[in-house]
Amino acid sequence: MSATKPLDYSSRPAASPLTGSIAVPGDKSISHRAIMFSALAEGTSRIDGFLEGEDTRATAAIFAEMGVRIETPSASQRIVHGVGLHGLAAPVRALDCGNAGTGMRLLAGLLAGQRFDSVLTGDASLSRRPMRRVIEPLALMGARIEAATGGVPPLRIGGRASLHGTLLHGIRYTAPVASAQVKSAVLLAGLYAQGETEVREIHPTRDYTERMLAAFGWPIEFEPGRARVSGGHRLQATDVVVPADFSSAAFFIVAATLLPGSLLLLRAVGLNPRRTGLLDALRLMGADIRELNAREQGGERVADLEVRHARLRGIEVPVARVPDMIDEFPILFIAAAAAEGATTVRGAAELRVKESDRIAVMAKGLAALGTRIEETPDGAIIHGGVLQGGRVDSAGDHRCAMSFAVAGLVARAEIRISDCANVATSFPGFVDIANACGFEISAAGGD
Ligand code: S3P
Repeated sequence: MSATKPLDYSSRPAASPLTGSIAVPGDKSISHRAIMFSALAEGTSRIDGFLEGEDTRATAAIFAEMGVRIETPSASQRIVHGVGLHGLAAPVRALDCGNAGTGMRLLAGLLAGQRFDSVLTGDASLSRRPMRRVIEPLALMGARIEAATGGVPPLRIGGRASLHGTLLHGIRYTAPVASAQVKSAVLLAGLYAQGETEVREIHPTRDYTERMLAAFGWPIEFEPGRARVSGGHRLQATDVVVPADFSSAAFFIVAATLLPGSLLLLRAVGLNPRRTGLLDALRLMGADIRELNAREQGGERVADLEVRHARLRGIEVPVARVPDMIDEFPILFIAAAAAEGATTVRGAAELRVKESDRIAVMAKGLAALGTRIEETPDGAIIHGGVLQGGRVDSAGDHRCAMSFAVAGLVARAEIRISDCANVATSFPGFVDIANACGFEISAAGGD
């Protein structure tokens, strides 16, 4: 996959403020789940606003390998002809999740309940990511999953169902890490298990699996921090409207905040409260972000975000909000580097096991740009005020690459960023959208 493609960005200080109105692509978390649930549903579902990124395309391709017919009437639409909960066909080869932790962890739960065995693989980054966090609870349910040494992919999953019924049984599980992926893997196995499955969380995480199960007609009880399903029901096809991905919008929210004179409108951004911790952190820092035209779209709160330039000051990021902004720390680090004073991040050790070790990658990159930053095991202290030009390595991490591109916009000189090909996993078209509203990014070296 593209993870091996070298593609470098050069991001230059902007000549003029960011202006205009932009729409970022569809939400990655919702797009993965929309494919999964519509594939397992009875009937035909239509997905609008689907993220046409490498991660979500990998998930769609996996279901196609298992016999699900998926049409693509346009880039952001999918028509999925569901095969029902027990209608997947045994795959003839290993299923490649690409760069997607969400794809692999959710599929682990779902495939554990099938009548066939399967193997899940991923790219170099995914092949380093911890899978015991899903293997352990799934084993408690009766699943048989083997990982490579160290608990990393590939995963070999023994199907735990026969013509006589399922070999999985429900559990009550409290996840030791705040992880929507772990919660979702257990709930998905719970669809195939005998009896009730309940997941409790130490911190509530994004609830897209719960909401979408309900939308597809599966009985589920849920509230922040707890979800309960039982096996033996059916999913009914439904249409899904995917809002714009808050995590993709985040780069533009910070960019417009940092660049003097900017006024940018981001249209129809998903504002699920378990995703918007960055908005609150930026507002605490002094940002001017307004929510206009708030409405409900496809069961999710969305609004247009109007962002004006504002001077930021450092803060202590509230530890309780860390799970609500877990994907936004790379860009928060850039906001902190441009702010006045120090910003402290604690309680975010999970960042070390994302697509890269995001604390290390951001700390090394910011240090190369002259920012004083102290790395800690579960966060960092970022002393804002100096952001020079220079060379940084995104380590193949899409969010670090886009964050450094935002830094280039407001740095004293050009920033060259290596290994940016994986931006296409979550945000195809990033460079074009960014340049259209005032960035000056050039990309080189791809194939
Ligand atoms: C996701 C959950 C989060 C997040 C990831 C997407 C999801 O991961 O970082 O980008 O779609 O469930 P964790 O569950 O590992 O925190």
